Amino acid sequence: MSFTVAIDGPAAAGKGTISRAVAERFGLAHLDTGLLYRATGAKVLDGMKPLAAAEALRAEDLKRDDLRTGDVARAASQVAAIPEVRAALVTFQRAFAQRQGGAVLDGRDIGTVICPEAQVKLFVTASDNVRADRRYREMKGSGMDVTPEGVLADLRERDVRDSGRLAAPLKPAEDAVMLDTSQMSIEDAVAKAIEIISAARR
Ligand code: DC
Repeated sequence: MSFTVAIDGPAAAGKGTISRAVAERFGLAHLDTGLLYRATGAKVLDGMKPLAAAEALRAEDLKRDDLRTGDVARAASQVAAIPEVRAALVTFQRAFAQRQGGAVLDGRDIGTVICPEAQVKLFVTASDNVRADRRYREMKGSGMDVTPEGVLADLRERDVRDSGRLAAPLKPAEDAVMLDTSQMSIEDAVAKAIEIISAARR
C-alpha cells in the first residue's frame, strides 16, 4: 500500500514549503499540483484553448520561468474552474499519488477529490493579511514589480474563485487536520506537520 499525504489550502498559506519539507523528511515524492494549473494557464495566455492546453501538458511545461507571475496565477485559477480541464489532469495526479514509496501532493482538492483515501490530510490556512504579506515578499524578492495592495487583492480574487467554483472547490476534507500558520514561523509549521504525519505513520 502506498503512503499518501494530501496538503490543501489557499494560496500562500505555507503549503509549498511544508510539502517540500515533509517530502524530504519522510523520503516521499512531491507534486505541487498548482503547477499543472499554472502551466495550463500559461499556455492559454499563449493563445491555446484551455482543454487543449491541459491535454497537451508535458513535463517541461512545468519548468517554465513565468509560472510564478500574477498573470499566470490568475489564468491558472480561471482554467481550474473548468470541469473538463480538471478531469484531464486527474489521471496524472492519481498515478503520482500511487507511487511506490509514497507521495505528498499539495493543492486545493487533493484530500477531497484526487486522493480521498490519503492516509494524512492537512488543510493549511493563514489570515489574508499574513498570506498576502508572505506572497508579496516572495514576489518582490524575485524581482517582480508588485505592491502589497495588489498582491492582497489578487489573492482574495483567487480565493473567492477557487472556493466558489462548482468543480472541486477549495474546502477541507471532513477528516483533514487543520493547521493555521498565521502565528507560526515556518519552522514551527513544518515541525507541526511532521508531528501529525509521524503519528499517522505509526
Ligand atoms: O497552488 P497555486 O497557487 O500554485 O495554484 C494556482 C491555481 O491553480 C489556484 O488558484 C487554483 C488552481 N489549483 C486548483 O484548482 N487545484 C489544485 N489542486 C491546485 C491548484
